[in-house]
Amino acid sequence: MDTQNVVSDEELIDEYSEQSGSQGIKRKYDDLENNEEEEEGGSSQNSNYDNSSVVAKHYNQLQEKGLAERFNSKIFYLRNFNNWVKSMLISDYLEKIKDSIRFGSPLRVLDMCCGKGGDLLKWQKGNITYLICTDIASISIEQCRARYEKITNNDPPDRKSFHAEFFTADSTRDRLRERYSDPSIELNLVSCQFAFHYCFESPKQAEMMLKNVSECLRVGGYFIGTIPDAKDIIKRQRAAQTDSFGNDIFQIKFISDSNDLPIFGSKYNFGLDGVVDCPEFLVHFPSFVKLAKKFSLKLIEAVRFEDYFPKKIGRGRSLIEKMQAVERYGLNGNRNLTRSNEEEYKHAKDFLLQKGGYDNRKKCGTLSASEWEVASLYMIFAFQKVKGPIE
Ligand SMILES: C[S@@+](CC[C@H](N)C(=O)[O-])C[C@H]1O[C@@H](n2cnc3c(N)ncnc32)[C@H](O)[C@@H]1O
Repeated sequence: MDTQNVVSDEELIDEYSEQSGSQGIKRKYDDLENNEEEEEGGSSQNSNYDNSSVVAKHYNQLQEKGLAERFNSKIFYLRNFNNWVKSMLISDYLEKIKDSIRFGSPLRVLDMCCGKGGDLLKWQKGNITYLICTDIASISIEQCRARYEKITNNDPPDRKSFHAEFFTADSTRDRLRERYSDPSIELNLVSCQFAFHYCFESPKQAEMMLKNVSECLRVGGYFIGTIPDAKDIIKRQRAAQTDSFGNDIFQIKFISDSNDLPIFGSKYNFGLDGVVDCPEFLVHFPSFVKLAKKFSLKLIEAVRFEDYFPKKIGRGRSLIEKMQAVERYGLNGNRNLTRSNEEEYKHAKDFLLQKGGYDNRKKCGTLSASEWEVASLYMIFAFQKVKGPIE
């Protein structure tokens, strides 16, 4: 971890220099029209519904952890940091939408692969009008609905902060529109957080997912999300020279042949400190962009978390503190750090020393090096629905 990946009390941190030399996926994407061929060569060995049911079962079984247990977890700050990134992304795009629609117009959102409703408060704070929540894991959907009831419980019945509907569906196989209470709904925003990569199992699934994104999205509306950066994963695999790598909080294990990765169906197993242990698929980003064009979705932003953080910290500083999305590190001794190994905070120590010599009062906000290794795997993306074909 770089000494710059910390947020100082006094000033904004610099932009990171672009990392160079990442290797791309071996097989290049040529023709998306050629779906059948891609399906044969590209989907994972055990296709059909295996992965979807494994994923649904995995997320259904995930227990909601209590506050104390969460606080003592090695990934407490990482989870909050990811949540901060989502908050910044969601609030940015809700602002853009509000700026572009008439004051008082309804603001409707699809939270695709919503999980247990981790973003419900963001939607409430964003003053949206209507929310559709859908996920493949039925237990998660029920927990999401219960959480919605709880957060809107005190609203006057005739003035709910926002209305919502919930249903279980596989966004890579089912046509969501047919399940909406109003199939003619016009959405302003589709959000798919930490989940779009599941559709890269096959071209057909990716197409269905994007059809679901685009079908009810208004022209001018946005599609936002967060995914692992496939280029970075491959770069790390090449550097590790093994198909299994990570640290003591995350592990990636390639299931597909890492020397012959297809565009779709490049499968690996992702493990995260007992929270996630699931098959995932690399998202070949150029193919994602190309396929999205077919659904009138134009790429407007794609930023790795490590670049997004310095870009947003100016506006997001107070929120990052409120959300406890970084850990306080000081030169004057630290009693309750998540990790006891000093090496985990070397970057923060170097940063503070660089900034002002050995001033014991100085503190900064940071993640442990191990947590940063995970956070820096991810990227945000944003597309806008446009009218007509995209060049
Ligand atoms: C890492 S969780 C993210 C949950 C939520 N978006 C968030 O950010 O808190 C990934 C979610 O994607 C859902 N998911 C995976 N594959 C899916 C599919 N094919 N259709 C719908 N949901 C899916 C999982 O059930 C899980 O809830």
